[in-house]
Amino acid sequence: MSVTWALPFKEKIIPEVGKERAVDPEEYRRIHAESLKDIESFWANVAKELEWFKPWDKVLVADPQPPFYKWFVGGRLNASYLTLDRNVKGGRKNKVAIIWEGEPVDQSGNPLEVRKLTYYDLWREVNRLAYVLKNKFGLKKGDTIGIYMPMIPELPIAMLAAARLGVIFTVVFSGFTAQALADRLNDAEAKLLITADGGYRRGRVIRLKDVVDKALEQSPTVKNVIVYRRVGLNDVNMVRGRDYWWHEVMADVPPNVYVEPEPVESEHPLYILYTSGTTGKPKGIVHDTGGYMVLLHATMKWVFDAREDDIHFCTADIGWVTGHSYIVFGPLLEGMTTIMFEGALDYPNPDRWWAIAERYGATILYTTPTGIRTLMRFGDEWVKKHDLSTIRLMHSVGEPINPEAWRWLWKLVGRERVPFGSTWWMTETGGILISHVPGLALVPLKPGTNGPPLPGVDADVVDDNGNPVPPGTRGYLVIKKPWPGMLLTIWKDPDRYVKTYWSKFPGMFYAGDYAVKDEDGYFWILGRADEVIKVAGHRLGTYELESALIQHPAVAEAAVVGVPDPVKGEVPVAYVVLRQGYQPSEELKRELNNTVRELVGPIATLANVFFVTKLPKTRSGKIMRRLVKAVVTGQPLGDVTTLEDEASVEEVKRAYEEFKAEIEKLKGQQ
Ligand code: WTA
Repeated sequence: MSVTWALPFKEKIIPEVGKERAVDPEEYRRIHAESLKDIESFWANVAKELEWFKPWDKVLVADPQPPFYKWFVGGRLNASYLTLDRNVKGGRKNKVAIIWEGEPVDQSGNPLEVRKLTYYDLWREVNRLAYVLKNKFGLKKGDTIGIYMPMIPELPIAMLAAARLGVIFTVVFSGFTAQALADRLNDAEAKLLITADGGYRRGRVIRLKDVVDKALEQSPTVKNVIVYRRVGLNDVNMVRGRDYWWHEVMADVPPNVYVEPEPVESEHPLYILYTSGTTGKPKGIVHDTGGYMVLLHATMKWVFDAREDDIHFCTADIGWVTGHSYIVFGPLLEGMTTIMFEGALDYPNPDRWWAIAERYGATILYTTPTGIRTLMRFGDEWVKKHDLSTIRLMHSVGEPINPEAWRWLWKLVGRERVPFGSTWWMTETGGILISHVPGLALVPLKPGTNGPPLPGVDADVVDDNGNPVPPGTRGYLVIKKPWPGMLLTIWKDPDRYVKTYWSKFPGMFYAGDYAVKDEDGYFWILGRADEVIKVAGHRLGTYELESALIQHPAVAEAAVVGVPDPVKGEVPVAYVVLRQGYQPSEELKRELNNTVRELVGPIATLANVFFVTKLPKTRSGKIMRRLVKAVVTGQPLGDVTTLEDEASVEEVKRAYEEFKAEIEKLKGQQ
């Protein structure tokens, strides 16, 4: 079944800033087609710009067979060396690498804590921590560790120290619960965990070490914990022989200690990052070192047009892939100054991002549609208070950007003159794959589009049979050739890697997104085609929420779907069938929501819970979420031939209608 898509805008904008690189889409298509003729030599030319301890023998190898691709095989390098030593040696020793701003402010709203670490400072701290990890805790290449920290400089320091030793790290977002942390540490078989006593969020202290203690009750592989004192809590539980204060283990390490960077194979895993899929168990996405560095280098140059005097402000959290690639590794690889902000965008006021951008003269802004929509609601004045004229380039990421949000940022922050795109990529891709490339050749902007694929990236939109669809027709986004930076596999689950990404359309990487291409060859990513939802840009598997719900004794069955939300893009709602003996109530709704928040985390908060007596199922007993989703989003039901009992759909509809009527009633009363 093909769906034709009316694209929201035909408008094309050539921004004043960057127009010297303007090309028309036709010209870009030629450049792109040329790059695909021989992707191996194309990417090898990019790779040559990095420093390798040993050059590669083969650019691309399928080992033992596709889709297990390895890039730059035989080559050796080190990510900590490339981001630190190379800059220290290359004339950037005392250039600021990280500008960090803590969340707490004084009475006038000025930050109480700002730290600026030069490349040399960072290099020294990374060496010292690497020394500790190696000599005090005996970690070596191939071991895995967990990192569960707030947004403080010690987080990238920990990542880079691990990378220096070839120790594989997995960062767990500090908003995750003990259960989520334990699941990830167990799957990764982490030997050590680096954490902090706590962190700040909207003025509140989050007691991270308490969460860690709870998680470690179930994580037997973790033998040691290093705790950084961020907040200065004086009642932190420290388990003797297991837990060590960061400042104590670092105390007697000389400031100039040098730890040889481990020359790892190009395909040696740099990190594992867990992400939601369509089953309850999160997937450990494994990234290599060589391919990943090459893709980051390319995207920093092409997408961000990286320059020596840039102040790069990416508003993401390092707990997600955007922070890994575009706060830490990408900007540092290019020797740039990267801004790291600890707190919430509206604390103490909704101009915190703009105050930061102004204070440090940010030149690049990389942010999210949800962030933009949140700030839009507070009005233009908060932006206008600040001089943002240093910003010369912007991009958004994480979810589709609606033209209204695009226009708002373009006008107020971009002064209707800077390049502004929406970069498409995923945890799995390692870096940006579809985007405007103002650093290389700039095609006209269109509000809401993702733009064309990057050179060397063979993206397409295909139908159910894997055949390309004509422009304006909705289909599935696929990548038809391997690219450097792609995931190596799913940690300890190669079958799932093949099944999830390479089986729907054999020989092509299936992203799980719906997309449409326009007549200029631009992509418009429309949202997920699978059971993953994006809440405020964060990926959640509906299945994860359902698994949490059914742990509550009252729940027999649950179906969770995403519904559109004006700020967060999408929010989850749950349809729940209760066990005998339980009655629907507001109290129970609250309880169920708490269960989900406790097991998955606050980002998983349900927007609503509906009680029904049955859910739409296939004849083989599988819940048809697609139908539930169609009901709540008011879409046609589509094919219902496999539906077992039509009355179930009616019930879902009725529950939703009743809810809508209630809302209308409330509105009428106001
Ligand atoms: C969505 C985030 C539209 C998409 C880097 C993808 C986007 C998922 C965009 C990956 C964009 C990301 N426009 N949708 N510019 N960027 N997405 O792994 O659905 O957290 O599959 O990586 O985000 O989410 P993830």
